[in-house]
Amino acid sequence: MLNLNSFDASRYPLWLMVGLLMASSQLASAAQASIDRPFIGAADIVVRALESSAITIKERADTDRFVILYAEGEAQQSVAITLFALPQQSDRMTVTVNSASPADQHFDHQLLQVEAFNPLSSVKDRLAYAVIKDALDKGTLAPGQTVIEATSGNTGIALAMVCAVMGHPFVATMAESFSVERRKIMRALGAKVILTPAAERGSGMVKRAEELAAKHNWFLTRQFENPANPAYHANTTGPEILRDFAGERLDYWVSGWGTGGTLSGAGRVMKAARPDLKVVATEPEQAALLSGGDWSPHKIQGWTPDFIPSVLDREVADMIVTINDEESMANALKIAQQEGIFTGISGGATLTAALKVADQAEAGSVILAMLPDTAERYMSTPLFADINEGSDDEWLDSL
Ligand SMILES: Cc1ncc(COP(=O)(O)O)c(C=O)c1O
Repeated sequence: MLNLNSFDASRYPLWLMVGLLMASSQLASAAQASIDRPFIGAADIVVRALESSAITIKERADTDRFVILYAEGEAQQSVAITLFALPQQSDRMTVTVNSASPADQHFDHQLLQVEAFNPLSSVKDRLAYAVIKDALDKGTLAPGQTVIEATSGNTGIALAMVCAVMGHPFVATMAESFSVERRKIMRALGAKVILTPAAERGSGMVKRAEELAAKHNWFLTRQFENPANPAYHANTTGPEILRDFAGERLDYWVSGWGTGGTLSGAGRVMKAARPDLKVVATEPEQAALLSGGDWSPHKIQGWTPDFIPSVLDREVADMIVTINDEESMANALKIAQQEGIFTGISGGATLTAALKVADQAEAGSVILAMLPDTAERYMSTPLFADINEGSDDEWLDSL
């Protein structure tokens, strides 16, 4: 049994750290080299990188979520290395929930599709590559032409990455209500970010992107209307899940919607292949547009703008489940603290909807929930409001 808590980087020689850095830079370049589908960290690449350094892999333990390597180096110092967030199988993004839901729910059968495994840590990496490749193939995007999109952040971050790789300047228009870290990540990737007033909502940032595209002859990717968006999910996300669950039970698939690309594209092919599968759409209580409600501001960044996008195929959803901001944030923190799965507010929201489905579902049902991104994108938001920034002295004193 390996004691994972004993790994202390400062105790190990420099060459080991170089080995780990090499491994992570190989992951990064692999992410770009194999861009024709979003790259998912393959443990084998890290193992190869370690093997080519002076380290011998003594033991390798593959768990459902992690690959644990027990390695020994030249100095005969034993080290245990946990490669967090590397899925056991290089292309499976599904993890099992172990402890986050109450015992009376069908706990062993809650599964999470962790889209944070994508290179820039959200489901939107798929869309970004899809719309740029489609436009280049059709000739509607010229080499080197500036790209612009209206985004709640994840699409912008993903487009900033793809545009950096493919040599296009990128401009995002984004409502000022979305988290400040999103702006900074985009800018760090070389993009420009034009903020629009929160009061103008999602449609305000879309309008601004349209105006700027027309004025400067920039290419507008139109994520809310572009058929390449759901088409890519129909070609990748849906088939990946079908392959992962081939020969296995899968009763419900739960997804929120922002553009509706994931829900419509993946949902459509999954239903065609598995007619018994129930597709569950989830949306905020105070912006339950698919349920016929009115829109009012909510905290699930990336979900439910103040309009129903044209790429969203309403026929795909068999059920609609509403959730609220508080339960979504509570569940996002709960799976972080109980499962080590670090997802954003929309991930907590999808998990909340999945737990509501589990309440009603027949015993033994298998429910897969989409977790669109990572919690690191939410440090400045209410999700982290109660997370202490200072020293935990009070806690220490109470011991
Ligand atoms: C955090 C987050 N969750 C979910 C979604 C929704 O994905 P889709 O646009 O495919 O409906 C988005 C979209 O921006 C998002 O940023």
